Amino acid sequence: MMPHVPFTDALVERLARARSVAVLTGAGISAESGIATFRDPGGIWERFRPEELANVRAFLRNPELVQAWYAHRRALVAEAEPNAGHLALAELETLIPDFTLITQNVDDLHRRAGSRNVVELHGNLTRSSCIDCRRPAAEADLRMLASGEPARCPDCGGYLRPDVVWFGEMLPVEALETAHEAARRADVFLSIGTSAVVYPAAEIPRLAREQGAYVAEVNVAPSAIAGDVDEVALGPAGTVLPRLAAAVRARR
Ligand code: APR
Repeated sequence: MMPHVPFTDALVERLARARSVAVLTGAGISAESGIATFRDPGGIWERFRPEELANVRAFLRNPELVQAWYAHRRALVAEAEPNAGHLALAELETLIPDFTLITQNVDDLHRRAGSRNVVELHGNLTRSSCIDCRRPAAEADLRMLASGEPARCPDCGGYLRPDVVWFGEMLPVEALETAHEAARRADVFLSIGTSAVVYPAAEIPRLAREQGAYVAEVNVAPSAIAGDVDEVALGPAGTVLPRLAAAVRARR
């Protein structure tokens, strides 16, 4: 009995022939690395209130709490490993001339998996900087937190914050422009492991489709854009993506 193939031959053929591919990933691709997603049962926003932790006002109200929460998330990410889904995207990048990996994730796992052209729409929690003078923070600066004091910039004394986009903040302009350009020129666009409910990231697959890209979604459940894509490959990214990369490799 042939195992069920969750994607069509058309997708494999299009990827194998593609000159330009863009991918958008969300927390779902890191789920199999043990990193909790945000909106699934048991997800981060089920346990923590984003308005208390992931915005500037909350940070300035209680910098120590927010710094401790991100120190906790950094430790979880440091212990995690890229999974087969991350590795499959790093392999796909080597098979396709123009490949852009746009991620909403801040866990650095795509870079650790070997992906090179990564566009971090929501930043990267492994980096921190001063909220006032923007000086990048060294690991040693963050260790002040262990003394029970909020970690501060050694230059100007401002609080240190993670280099992630908080609710109510603008996304990095250059990253968003690069993502839009990649979506516009893509022959194939993959939306992977995202609920596609947070904008402007959720706009990007639709932008690709409007410009003529073949858009496929890889998810364990249809997302908010499932009705606006050409194909939904249902299954865990860690299973679907290695099979998709292998099928494309065999065709190129
Ligand atoms: N493989 C593929 N998809 C998966 C898997 C898996 N193993 N496990 C879960 N998913 C899917 C879920 O079905 C859901 O569609 O991943 C998605 C996770 O959705 P969210 O938790 O909403 O995460 P995301 O879409 O990345 O959230 C976007 O919201 O809070 C902000 O800044 C945060 O970047 C985040 C943004």
